[in-house]
Amino acid sequence: MANVALFEPLTLRSLTVRNRIWVAPMCQYAITKKDGVPEDWHLVHLGSMASGGAGLVVAEATAVNAAGRISDADTGIWNDEQAAAWQRITTFIHARGAHAGIQLAHAGRKASVWPEWGHDRNGSMLPEDGGWQTVSASPVPFIGLEPPIALDADGIAQLVGDFAAAARRAVDAGFDVVEIHAAHGYLLHQFLSPLSNLRDDEYGGDLAGRARLLLEVTTAIRAEIGDTMPLLVRFSATDYAPGGWDEQQTAIVASWARAAGADFFDISSGGNVAGVRIPIGPGYQVPFARFVKEQANVGVSAVGLITTPAQAEEIVASGSADAVMLGREMMRDPHFALRAAHELGALIDYWPSPYLRSRWPN
Ligand SMILES: Cc1cc2nc3c(=O)[nH]c(=O)nc-3n(C[C@H](O)[C@H](O)[C@H](O)COP(=O)(O)O)c2cc1C
Repeated sequence: MANVALFEPLTLRSLTVRNRIWVAPMCQYAITKKDGVPEDWHLVHLGSMASGGAGLVVAEATAVNAAGRISDADTGIWNDEQAAAWQRITTFIHARGAHAGIQLAHAGRKASVWPEWGHDRNGSMLPEDGGWQTVSASPVPFIGLEPPIALDADGIAQLVGDFAAAARRAVDAGFDVVEIHAAHGYLLHQFLSPLSNLRDDEYGGDLAGRARLLLEVTTAIRAEIGDTMPLLVRFSATDYAPGGWDEQQTAIVASWARAAGADFFDISSGGNVAGVRIPIGPGYQVPFARFVKEQANVGVSAVGLITTPAQAEEIVASGSADAVMLGREMMRDPHFALRAAHELGALIDYWPSPYLRSRWPN
């Protein structure tokens, strides 16, 4: 068997993931009943990637309360009906030998927008169309969207409780991994960045103040999920804007989050400031992952325009990241991990039996 880094198992706390090819969280905007309950689409979408050999399948940004949804077509995990529907999906993922993660999210000032597809509207969904008032660190709107109101102390305490309750439901629904969404300009990122957090109380100001909410969420989730389950945090490493959030702050807060109970960091970028120039290209966020890994001495995954088995292998084998997450390539080819095993000559024992002939000539 070829020595293929991508197919080395990875252990986080008591969980051993079969390989380092992971599915990035991807909102589907596909909830037809607007009730946050995942449907057959989500089973087949996520299930196909588990059948396709991925190690960890991370379900989309899933709201911890109704107001935290990006749109009314998002998934949620704030009630038992949603948790039961997720359980059907985690059961299938497990039957295929993969592990299941869920990204817990609150969209903050980027909530209540029209879903990405299925109509010809965009921007904020107003209350008369079924939208709702958004919240954030400060009453500063994201360009083009309706202004949020600032969360007060009670609102913050409630939010931390909602993240913890969602994590408890995630455990009950059979998820193996929880990921906190602190990236892409959503609520926790809005608190982290000095461009969106103008508070003068203990949740704003210096880095410790801006990171306080994320650390409280991390601590509360860890208390809820116990000692054995891995906890990931997704960061945007930079706002790509002067005076904004950047990779140095990311590395410092990652080390604080580690001390608060997080294990591993999923490093993305951008999303909090509209109109910035992002140097997009193959693997463009990998250097951020490597930076956080080296500076904070933590495990990381890299994401962003990773599209070929050889490229993914180089990222892990060179030590830039401990795992790769793939988004759009996984949607084009949910069997990417099987294809990678075939192309890279890795012998794996989790080809689905009905697909065994496609291993040839390995
Ligand atoms: C349709 C779609 C939905 C996405 N939804 C989420 C999400 O729910 N949470 C998140 O953190 N990132 C989300 N992303 C970003 C991806 O996780 C990933 O970081 C990004 O697509 C870059 O990786 P890629 O080049 O492999 O697609 C989404 C991307 C796409 C294409």
